[in-house]
This record gives sequence, structure tokens and C-alpha cells, in this order.
Amino acid sequence: MTQPPRRVSHRVGAITESATLAVDARAKALQAAGRPVIGFGAGEPDFPTPDYIVEAAAAACHDPRWHRYTPAGGLPDLKEAVAAKTARDSGFQVSAGQVLVTNGGKQAVYEAFATLLDPGDEVLLPAPYWTTYPESIRLAGGVPVEVMTDESSGYLATVEQLEAATTERTKVLLFVSPSNPTGAVYPPDQVEAIGRWAVERGIWVVTDEIYEHLVYGEARFASMPTLVPELADTCVVVNGVAKTYAMTGWRVGWLIGPADVVKAATNLQSHATSNVANVSQVAALTAVRGDLSAVAAMREVYDRRRQTIVKMLRDIPGVECPEPFGAFYAYPSVKGVLGRQLRGRTPTSSAELCELVLEEAEVAVVPGEAFGTPGYLRMSYALGDDDLVEGVTRLHELLAEAR
Ligand SMILES: Cc1ncc(COP(=O)(O)O)c(C=O)c1O
Repeated sequence: MTQPPRRVSHRVGAITESATLAVDARAKALQAAGRPVIGFGAGEPDFPTPDYIVEAAAAACHDPRWHRYTPAGGLPDLKEAVAAKTARDSGFQVSAGQVLVTNGGKQAVYEAFATLLDPGDEVLLPAPYWTTYPESIRLAGGVPVEVMTDESSGYLATVEQLEAATTERTKVLLFVSPSNPTGAVYPPDQVEAIGRWAVERGIWVVTDEIYEHLVYGEARFASMPTLVPELADTCVVVNGVAKTYAMTGWRVGWLIGPADVVKAATNLQSHATSNVANVSQVAALTAVRGDLSAVAAMREVYDRRRQTIVKMLRDIPGVECPEPFGAFYAYPSVKGVLGRQLRGRTPTSSAELCELVLEEAEVAVVPGEAFGTPGYLRMSYALGDDDLVEGVTRLHELLAEAR
């Protein structure tokens, strides 16, 4: 008997739903049905986009110039502004020709891997990792090679670990600091050591700097190609306006790389999506040309919530929470709760625990399974202070019943 033709290709059929978006959608659906669900699932700022950015976009809507196609790789002024902003914020000197404006940082990640990888090329991927990385690596024909980290190192991978995972098929290292999902921030000397190792081994680096401005306490953001200038020819930087300016819905990001890679990625984008919506690009131009006072104010609020959530999580029996120094996530271990009786059930995985927490405490959190490390929860603290306290209190009350 002949098999019926496949309706969905192997390549796309293998993609899993984004677990973080799924949790967020489930929480929002329950809220819409009148349930008092508190969501720690969303990976986005809870602030509105600053007014001056919104006003620039509103004015752009009325200008017929922006009603038409524009260059696929981005508005020339925005590419210039991104180059200038990069020199200002991270010290990395690039020309506008090395910038490709994308439909969010997500498209930049996808295009970076699509442009660099051939089938079978391996990508070193420190875990816990953001869910989109392995999917976009696989879509490009690459093979993600996980490099496991845990709370004992504050979720930081070492050169020794990366070296041990390297083979002759290794082409790229994915590096992200501050990290989603852990909030970990690599100290500058470790960023430099990893960058120097990558240069010596001839391994490309895709470095995701989207949380560069959300760093707290003594921690400092450090850009790998700035600390290791020899890396510039084999490095792609991913960034965007989403997290810095509370602009997740506007969909503007970019990638920066060597001119030949950027040209190739621009060709890809010219056939896939063409230019990013012009109104959004004008909004992003206003954001990156402006100062950083809006993000400074948001950072202060996140920092306050960060300290609250870490302190509260550490008070819960069976929960361990290393201090996150960046982004807006805490990544506690719940291994001490698993396998114990809780409201008549015995959750043995963080995925099962998250189900139970949603049903019994009406609190939405993302299980570590989504990030390649079962036994953990990701909790975004980009939500109102009162909700944060109420949500973690409910979690505490529930988990304290584990026997
Ligand atoms: C680590 C990381 N990189 C990139 C992105 C992409 O953001 P966007 O596509 O909204 O610009 C995100 C969003 O969650 C992220 O967490």
C-alpha cells in the first residue's frame, strides 16, 4: 500500500509550538473566562511604549512615503542610527552596510542561522536556552548541541564545557547575556575568554544582545565583539527595540554582521518578508536616536520587582533561586518539590507541576522543559508589583503543602 502524501513537510512538521506563548495564551484565555489568573509567563515588558515614540509613529501613518515598499534591508536612516546606537551602547563600531533591519529579534535569529548553517553543521547551545534557538537552528538544517548549565554556576557555561562539546562539525556558538530564561549575566572576563576561544577554534558566534540595557546590581553588560575585536569577521549580533523600549508588538529588530553575511541575509529577507512595516521602522528610529531615560526608569522598577521575587521564592520550601542579574526573569529550581504529594497528586516533572499550579493556585509559569532543563520554572517579573506579590504568595501557599 502506498503511503498518503505528507500534508506537512518533515522540516516544518517537526517544529513545536512556542511553550512560552502557549502558557501566556492559556493564562489569557482563563483570565478572559473570568478566572483570576496571575501570569508570570510573558516575555515582554508590562509598560506601554513611551509616548514620544508612539507620536512619531502616528505622524508616520499620515505620510504617504511610508505607504509604499521601502528597501528590504531597512530604512537607510534606521540602519545608520542602529550603527551609531551600537557604538554608543556596546562600543562595537560598525557601518550601516553591516545592519539588516528585521521583523523583531526573532527574525534576526532565524536569518542568522539560515545564512550561516549548512545541513549537519553543529551549533553549541548553552542550556537553559530560549525556545526559539533550537527550532531555528533545526529549520536551517543545523544540529543544536546542548551545553548543560545549572544553578550551581549561576547558569554560566565555561570555555572548558564549550570545548568538550566541540566537534569538527561545530560551526557556531549561540551566546546570550543577559539570558532568557535564566537572567544570568556573564562577567566581562568570561565573555572575553569565550570570545578568544571561539576565535582560536574558528567558531562563529551569534550573540543575542536584546537585553543589554536590563542589567542590575554590580553586573555589567559586555559585548563579545567589542572585547574581542578579532571576532568581528565571524560574529553576528542580534538585537532590537522590543525589550529596551517596551516595543514587543512593533516588531523591529536587527542583525549586525560582516558585510557578506548581511548581504546574503538581506537577499533571504527580500524574498521572505521584504521591508519591516515602515511605521514601525520610524518608531524604532525615534527610539534608537533618542536617549535611554525611559529604559532607565523601567529598569529601576524591574530591579525592585526582581529583589522582591527572589526573596519571596527563596522563602518557599523546596525552591532554590540563584540571583538573576539581567533581563526580567527568575529561574528557580523546583527539584525539591517534585515527587512529593500535593493536593492528591504527585507531580514528577516541572511540566506537571506547572499544570497543577495553574489549576490549583491560578498562577501561570513556564516549565523548565521549554528551555531544555526539566526541574525548573521560568517566572517573568514584568508584571505589576501587587500581582507579583499575590502570585508568589499563592505559589508559596500551594507548594508548602507538598508532603
Ligand atoms: C533572548 C531573546 N532574543 C530575542 C528575542 C526576540 O524578541 P523580538 O522578536 O520580540 O524582537 C527574545 C524575545 O523574547 C528573547 O527573549
